[in-house]
Amino acid sequence: MSADFAIGLHDFSAATGQYVLTHETLAAENGADVAKYHKGIGQRSMSVPAVDEDIVTMAAAAAAPVVARHGADQIRTVLFATESSIDQAKAAGIYVHSLLGLPAGARVVELKQACYSGTAALQFALGLVHRDRSEQVLVIASDVSKYERGTPGEATQGAAAVAMLVSAEPALMRIENPSGMFTADIMDFWRPNYRTTALVDGQESISAYLQAVEGAWKDYTERGGRSLDEFTAFCYHQPFTKMAYKAHRHLLDHCGYDVDDGEITRAIGQTTGYNAVIGNSYTASVYLALASLLDNADDLTDRTVGFLSYGSGSVAEFFAGTVVPGYRSHLRTDMHRAAIDRRQEIDYAKYREIHDHSFPVDGGNHAVPRETTGPYRLAGLAGHKRLYEQL
Ligand code: CAA
Repeated sequence: MSADFAIGLHDFSAATGQYVLTHETLAAENGADVAKYHKGIGQRSMSVPAVDEDIVTMAAAAAAPVVARHGADQIRTVLFATESSIDQAKAAGIYVHSLLGLPAGARVVELKQACYSGTAALQFALGLVHRDRSEQVLVIASDVSKYERGTPGEATQGAAAVAMLVSAEPALMRIENPSGMFTADIMDFWRPNYRTTALVDGQESISAYLQAVEGAWKDYTERGGRSLDEFTAFCYHQPFTKMAYKAHRHLLDHCGYDVDDGEITRAIGQTTGYNAVIGNSYTASVYLALASLLDNADDLTDRTVGFLSYGSGSVAEFFAGTVVPGYRSHLRTDMHRAAIDRRQEIDYAKYREIHDHSFPVDGGNHAVPRETTGPYRLAGLAGHKRLYEQL
């Protein structure tokens, strides 16, 4: 049953980490041809969080401007999507709830299914607002992507958070029914509880993604979704930006369309700007694609955007959103560009130090030296608890 009012994205804000490692620096270290990174996978640099940053500090930095603009009175639910969780029991969103002073009369929960769970959170949020249009849901997707150094995945690391306020009569985008879903039990990418870095079968993961695109699209069309021609642009999950091109080419081919490079670039090009310099932000990636599109495209009023969210393991979903008149005055383009531009470039030695760093697990009192210039930081550990502070 559809609501007789629109539901969707009312506000949108993104944040990333303190540092940036360029692919020139990575290539100089590992001997790769930098063209493999720039052209082959479509990546220029990757965000690297400081040791006193994590999914909570990035999430709070992304969500604070949303709460500042709209207040917190209507936020009855906070959904925190991540696959780089900091605790096996407690939802990371509760730290954000506390840092932002959100009302006690709100539920907070964490969701996991690899890079897909931000979309699950968004869909659950739509359902909650459908039930009571006076409620707003704060959806957060925040991740730090980490692979072993020296593995092929290393070049696709990154970090970012997005915060999306879901409400009735949204100011940015209406999210539509139906959705197309696809689930398959496959081991293309996973991270057992005892590991800090992900395991991946790279080529298998690309095939699994493409199979999921086909499956989600099939389900979408069988449920009466729009035809491909009705979409102005497509936001794909971007583990690396070339993946969006592969996926769209695959979809066009599958649907019997001419696979024209110019047409693919027209549909994808403006969605890749942020992910190309931030790297894989897992749950946030498909929504950073939307941020890049909205911030950089000419007027998209009343245009429909397709979303393909993929999470290894695997679950995928295809859905549509239509841009609302007046959306441009609600964008945070300057803030997003500033978050990218403020990052400090680091050399490989500093990156290696951060990558290989781990906190003591003895439950003692450990202050974390201040590094970030962002608004929130992990100040220390004590009694196996993480202590955050606002700067
Ligand atoms: N100049 C230009 N292009 C070059 C080049 C050069 N000198 N050298 C290589 N290339 C091209 C290759 O031809 C290839 O392009 P095509 O795929 O279009 O043929 C591309 O650069 C990559 O080269 P390789 O396949 O040889 O690279 P690789 O073996 O180092 O692995 C990867 C690439 C599999 C993506 C690896 O980075 C990886 O494992 N990444 C992590 C897993 C991942 O991101 N999977 C994506 C789908 S799963 C998902 O989406 C969930 C998620 O977030 C993880």
